[in-house]
Amino acid sequence: MSNTEIPQPIAWFGPHLTGRELEHLRGVLDRQYVNDGPLAREFERRIAALVGARHAVAVTSGTAAITLALMAAGIGPGDEVLVPDLTFAATANAVRLTGADVKLVDVEPVRFGIDPDGAEAAIGPRTRALVTVDVNGRGADYGRLEPLCRDKGLVLVCDAAEGLGSQHAGRKIGTFGLASCFSFSANKTITAGQGGLITTDSDALHDRLRELKDQGRRHGGTGGDDLHPVMGFNFKFTDLQAAVALPQLDEIEQRLAAANRRDGFYAERLANQPGLKLPPFDEPGEVRQWTDVLIDNRATVSAALDAARIGHRAFWFPLHRHEPYAADESLFPNSTDISRRGLWLASRFDLTTPDFDRVCSVIVAALRR
Ligand SMILES: Cc1ncc(COP(=O)(O)O)c(C=O)c1O
Repeated sequence: MSNTEIPQPIAWFGPHLTGRELEHLRGVLDRQYVNDGPLAREFERRIAALVGARHAVAVTSGTAAITLALMAAGIGPGDEVLVPDLTFAATANAVRLTGADVKLVDVEPVRFGIDPDGAEAAIGPRTRALVTVDVNGRGADYGRLEPLCRDKGLVLVCDAAEGLGSQHAGRKIGTFGLASCFSFSANKTITAGQGGLITTDSDALHDRLRELKDQGRRHGGTGGDDLHPVMGFNFKFTDLQAAVALPQLDEIEQRLAAANRRDGFYAERLANQPGLKLPPFDEPGEVRQWTDVLIDNRATVSAALDAARIGHRAFWFPLHRHEPYAADESLFPNSTDISRRGLWLASRFDLTTPDFDRVCSVIVAALRR
């Protein structure tokens, strides 16, 4: 490439549509049933089968999924919920929507999940629940967190927004705790534009979730002279959204395999680079939504990637840095450090070997500067 040639951009991530969405959408439009109907049920059945959970309930977003899972478990005003400091703001905002208070806990430094010791130490008289986050598809330390929650009588809800298809300790993400919450927003493995879903093995929680997402009606209704035995809201996922998501679900295994190939490629090219750390990915069945790395001098690498028109994203600010959750930084050394160094590399499923070569060459050159 000559010096004057402008390199083609490489996108960080994005929706991966299959071209078959229109077929499904046409079917929905022909049936003239655009609400929460048979395709939404099919979507739920298929995710439940993929995850190996007894029930799946589709809702409007991953945020709504977390809120409803907590509400269905009886969490509300006056309660306190433990939340890891390193996550997307949605996790904490979802807790606040129930009326409960958020108590932040630092994360452990290797896999970025909530620190079990920190969680145990944070339990107070009002603590009723713990929300884990399976950051980037890496399961939290459920080997310690499940017994902790059982012993202390805490409801365990998992924010698995980034974990569809991944595994931890021989179990699928989506099968830990009382309930797990997935997201189908635009930068997820499967997208419906927006959308979320709760998996659970509990029949009682499932019934309550159906009521909460549809104005207190467990089995739908006419919209007319229905009785609404309990209070609920409207968090329904529609067949229009399911029509977009279902054809992508047909390709899930290929997408998970592409993610693993991508991580393998980056790991090989970026191993032993000074100032760059690859978080471990050595768990059988673990699939990371995007490739993540920790870089001491992240600003330099980020600027070099920008100049080369290569997409990337810096990790979230820790929750304690956001005004609604402001707290003393010294309480969160790990999330503060990871947030400063974390970078998600270009991770689209359709990137080619020359694309990966280009990304890695830019990173390696920037690290040597
Ligand atoms: C870790 C995490 N939690 C929660 C959410 C919220 O999901 P949604 O955007 O579907 O509400 C997301 C994604 O957006 C996420 O990455």
